[in-house]
Amino acid sequence: MMNRRPRRNRKSAAIRAMVEETKIGAEHLIYPLFLKDGKGVKEEIASLPNNYRWSLDLLLPEIEECMNLGVRTFDLFPAVNEGLKDNVASYSYASDNFYLHAINAIKERFPESVLMSDVAMDPYSSDGHDGLVCDGEIVNDDTLPILNRMAIAQAQAGIDIIGPSDMMDGRIGSIRQALDVEGFTNVSIMSYTAKYASAFYGPFRDALNSAPKSGDKKTYQMNPANKREALIEAELDTLEGADFLMIKPALSYLDIIHVIKEHTNLPVTAYNVSGECAMIYAAAEKGWLNLEQAVSEILISMRRAGADGILTYFAKDFARWIKN
Ligand code: PBG
Repeated sequence: MMNRRPRRNRKSAAIRAMVEETKIGAEHLIYPLFLKDGKGVKEEIASLPNNYRWSLDLLLPEIEECMNLGVRTFDLFPAVNEGLKDNVASYSYASDNFYLHAINAIKERFPESVLMSDVAMDPYSSDGHDGLVCDGEIVNDDTLPILNRMAIAQAQAGIDIIGPSDMMDGRIGSIRQALDVEGFTNVSIMSYTAKYASAFYGPFRDALNSAPKSGDKKTYQMNPANKREALIEAELDTLEGADFLMIKPALSYLDIIHVIKEHTNLPVTAYNVSGECAMIYAAAEKGWLNLEQAVSEILISMRRAGADGILTYFAKDFARWIKN
């Protein structure tokens, strides 16, 4: 005799569905997209299969397809020509910046979409760092005015959510104040709250050709060994005015998602980064695992850990799978 048999609640698809604890839908997904200047451009990123650098003309129909699948939020990243990069990232707020123009055009065409930006110097920096480099050091406070200018330019272009990924101290408060002074009180900030110095950003840096020219990012991105420190970052971002707290990467940091979720009332998001995506694709290509099942399992694990939203390169595929 056995009083307790947990298998009884797994005995049919209907019962399993009834007792399912975690749900995930297209509404939870944020799709990162890479933009490039020009026309007719759709370049596949070698280390990130099924993801492309798009020119605006080809990106618009792609966004339309995603919207029809229920994915409405997009995180846009610019692939900038080397010739336009300098040590102060001045192209990031230049009036002829193609990325700002694209934000404007996408928002005009799809007013019901939600567009998120990246705020950090690295895509525009000749040093390939997220902050200003002086004598080999990443200087914090002199970076802030540059980030403010970048954020204001993106707000002027019509962005819905600013995404500071730079990990400078005090940047959320600084950007919040700069936006408010310019009248952009409705523009949200999704802070990269706990962003770790990770090997899993490799394919992303290939996509943008944005790897650091010297050194690494360990003086600003977090040490993967630390958990309590993530709570310090979460507390500061909350006090400084963040609307969402993001954890990045996601898969090796489910405990961080969980602990931040337990300590905040703000929505929490997780960034399922490029390297996490690439390794799943690579194994699936070899026939070592089933792509759809593996992706579904990792995305639900992020929701189960406490993520409200998930940034993932699988957004479109996943939305298609759950629709069918
Ligand atoms: C740069 C930035 C990075 C990512 C998002 N914004 C890379 C980095 O910090 O070097 C990584 C995203 C990914 O790997 O998918 N500020």
